[in-house]
Amino acid sequence: MKKRLLNYLACPACNAEIALISTNRCEGDEIISGTLSCSPCSRTWPIERGVPRFAELMTIAADKAATAENFGWQWQHFTQADDKYEQQFLGWLTPVTPEFFKDKVVLEGGCGKGRHTELAAGWGAREVIGIDLSEAVESAFKATRELANAHIVQADIYHLPLKRAFDYAFSVGVLHHLPDPYGGFKSLAAKVKSGGHVSAWVYGAENNEWITRWVNPLRERLTSRMNPRTLLQLSKLPAMFMFAGTKLVYRPLNLLAPDLAQHLFYNDYLNAISTFGWREQHTIVFDHLVAPTAFYISREDFAEWWKQIGAHESVINWHNSNSWCGFGRV
Ligand SMILES: C[S@@+](CC[C@H](N)C(=O)[O-])C[C@H]1O[C@@H](n2cnc3c(N)ncnc32)[C@H](O)[C@@H]1O
Ligand SMILES: [Zn+2]
Repeated sequence: MKKRLLNYLACPACNAEIALISTNRCEGDEIISGTLSCSPCSRTWPIERGVPRFAELMTIAADKAATAENFGWQWQHFTQADDKYEQQFLGWLTPVTPEFFKDKVVLEGGCGKGRHTELAAGWGAREVIGIDLSEAVESAFKATRELANAHIVQADIYHLPLKRAFDYAFSVGVLHHLPDPYGGFKSLAAKVKSGGHVSAWVYGAENNEWITRWVNPLRERLTSRMNPRTLLQLSKLPAMFMFAGTKLVYRPLNLLAPDLAQHLFYNDYLNAISTFGWREQHTIVFDHLVAPTAFYISREDFAEWWKQIGAHESVINWHNSNSWCGFGRV
């Protein structure tokens, strides 16, 4: 943890300033182990392996803890970096561009292995703080520790230990995995200063009926309950079909006969990922099967979220014909 993260921390219980009361070990600018405290309510939180820990997984509701456990495993296993991440991230943030990040204080809700925290920091954000509930923070910390403007915090999106001090908050692929997706969105947006912006990307209900009907029962009853190591092996089978289909059918047909390709099942999405390598496609399949909770959100419900937080000039884009990207000013 870099000392200047303290400028942005606030007690999740009483909103008071948080102080660093002891430092046990430092490496350069990073405090690797120490203790943080809120004096009005006498709470303390440890800094362990470079990350301030505001989430006590043992005391978190079972559904949230199960989600954190499964994703924690995923992002400590699939730690690869990929040069496709930048383009994919910008797609999810539409209409935001890299220049938008310049000099902004940015919050990321559910940073996973830190791939987007790293990109945001590289695009010139003044500071970017990635929070995540799971042990994915171990990977995120490793990926970003050399970046002076990047910070990783282990925390629950519903109880953010942060001041309302952000110019921009984004969350990619996280809100639909929460027990109350709108509640998480609202909590994230509440940390953005008046006049700042919010982006969110969520799974769409539209065009995903095949997932909600056929994949969800399997995911809920079987795959999300499996040992992740077993699922890792098992998920190679559907991933192999997807990989072969995208490489042998979707990509060539979209290049050679795009009008014909439009009629293929789930074409926009499968064509979009058809340039991804095996490991990335396997990550996608595993990601879909491992989540204990996944909501598929309609445009109507998503639009209501933006209305409810009082966003101005909000725009909602249909992405790869299977998901929604929202952007608005608060
Ligand atoms: C599908 S991953 C997406 C990670 C990252 N945004 C990305 O696109 O690479 C979902 C992430 O949300 C995190 N998460 C789930 N519930 C959370 C909560 N209550 N608070 C904070 N993060 C949470 C998980 O630990 C996981 O890392
Ligand atoms: Zn307090």
